[in-house]
Amino acid sequence: MSDNTSDNSTLSAAETSAQDRTSPESHRPIRSYVIRAGRYTDAQKAAIDEHWDDFVVPYEERHFSTEELFGSANPLTVEIGFGMGDSLLEMAIANPERNFLGIEVHKPGVGKLLHGLAEHGVTNVKVFCHDAKDILAHCIESASIETLLIFFPDPWHKKRHNKRRLVQTEFISSLLPLLMEGGRIHLATDWEPYAEHMVEAMEAVEGVCNINGTGNFWQTPDRPETKFERRGVRLGHGVWDLLYEKKSA
Ligand SMILES: C[S@@+](CC[C@H](N)C(=O)[O-])C[C@H]1O[C@@H](n2cnc3c(N)ncnc32)[C@H](O)[C@@H]1O
Repeated sequence: MSDNTSDNSTLSAAETSAQDRTSPESHRPIRSYVIRAGRYTDAQKAAIDEHWDDFVVPYEERHFSTEELFGSANPLTVEIGFGMGDSLLEMAIANPERNFLGIEVHKPGVGKLLHGLAEHGVTNVKVFCHDAKDILAHCIESASIETLLIFFPDPWHKKRHNKRRLVQTEFISSLLPLLMEGGRIHLATDWEPYAEHMVEAMEAVEGVCNINGTGNFWQTPDRPETKFERRGVRLGHGVWDLLYEKKSA
């Protein structure tokens, strides 16, 4: 939701052709987002100016241990693509005995989260404002994540954009070593074709099992409602959650 409306079907022709330039010759990685010029509220701007260094970890290609990031080894939840951060803030306040690492490329959304974190005096959240694929490839220690959340990732409606969807068998398989044994992956979407794609992609990941039975959605998810979810529900969309657990080796 790089524009936080996330209707990727409305990309301009120029944006679309730039995004489709993923031929072997171009050597461009396939991005799951588009950075758009964001509008900032005064509160978001002020939070970025005043609190960036308190919560945002500068990207470096090295491992950051949970202790280094949070000063404690409490169980770690990682949320990829937290958008405006409302649900991450709610979870962090409700679970002070856990650590939360949020990853988001949309800077106004990071500003919104920083505002909330500072306002509520939250100390168990850190943020990377960078591509989650780089963070997961380089910055997280193995077997350190207890819960991985991907709530309402950009749906990339058009067939030719489906390859940009974050939830892919290869991507999820690549990050399994970062999960503790018994660690969980919770996914949600409001776009039915993406829900079907998610099940197919996840059931093909070796080393995880669907807590609700092969091919089944999670009917009673324990997560806050997200901003993007509310938008989907307003548009008459359904909501589909999936919960997987890493099998013991
Ligand atoms: C559709 S929005 C959903 C936001 C939020 N989870 C919600 O439900 O309201 C998806 C978000 O994922 C972010 N995103 C997509 N790919 C990402 C990536 N590779 N790394 C970090 N953030 C990403 C986008 O910037 C966008 O804010």
